[in-house]
Amino acid sequence: MKNTLLSCLFTVCVALFTFSVDGFAAQENLADYHTGMNGCESCHANGEPSVDGGYEFEQCQSCHGSLAGMSDNHKPHDSMLLCVDCHAVHEVNVAEQPTCEACHDDGRVAK
Ligand code: HEC
Ligand code: HEC
Ligand code: HEC
Ligand code: HEC
Repeated sequence: MKNTLLSCLFTVCVALFTFSVDGFAAQENLADYHTGMNGCESCHANGEPSVDGGYEFEQCQSCHGSLAGMSDNHKPHDSMLLCVDCHAVHEVNVAEQPTCEACHDDGRVAK
């Protein structure tokens, strides 16, 4: 009886632990998520941000392709915006979708 109880508690603990690990991953910001790939150098030369964001923009495109080749939310902004204008990588979490209202005030939404 005692053993059954203990192993039940153990199972619950494992489940809670697994859940909190998953929960944590979902709360990870986009920069930390990418840092797991090749460190800060995934995006920054020598781990230091560039002055104009141009180097970082090139890194995004080297893995994801250019705005022109992405979804309809991306295409109209080709050669108008940097990725970080919408994906503020150090501020937003993985799976958070950018909105349009920061720049367009006509109520349009992501397609
Ligand atoms: C997914 C790419 C990416 C990764 C990985 C990344 N950064 Fe950044 N980081 C950026 C971009 C893009 C900016 C420019 C932000 C802006 O213009 O608002 C930036 C800005 C910064 C800034 C300027 C201050 C700020 O927050 O705007 C610092 C400092 C910085 N990063 C440090 C780091 C460090 C240290 C790491 C590793 C732990 C790291 N970054 C990982 C993309 C990245
Ligand atoms: C005008 C704002 C905007 C800009 C600029 C932008 N994005 Fe996005 N991005 C979005 C929105 C909205 C979504 C969610 C809906 C969708 O997938 O179209 C998204 C989703 C994504 C996704 C996840 C979905 C997928 O297709 O895998 C990736 C990856 C992504 N963007 C990368 C980028 C990169 C890389 C750049 C720069 C080359 C960029 N984005 C520039 C708004 C933007
Ligand atoms: C070293 C390659 C690499 C670089 C550089 C890179 N990414 Fe990614 N990124 C990935 C991979 C791999 C994924 C996971 C698969 C996917 O969602 O496309 C990802 C995922 C994403 C996602 C979707 C996350 C989610 O919510 O599921 C966004 C948005 C994104 N990246 C934006 C950017 C932006 C903005 C930059 C530049 C500041 C950038 N990436 C630089 C490889 C990269
Ligand atoms: C960081 C600012 C910014 C964000 C956020 C943004 N846009 Fe834009 N968008 C622009 C700029 C700049 C242009 C080019 C100038 C213009 O035509 O107004 C543009 C142009 C467009 C155009 C073509 C011209 C027009 O007005 O129809 C479409 C379509 C568009 N954006 C859709 C979206 C959608 C959908 C979203 C949300 C997913 C979004 N934008 C988010 C800045 C932004």
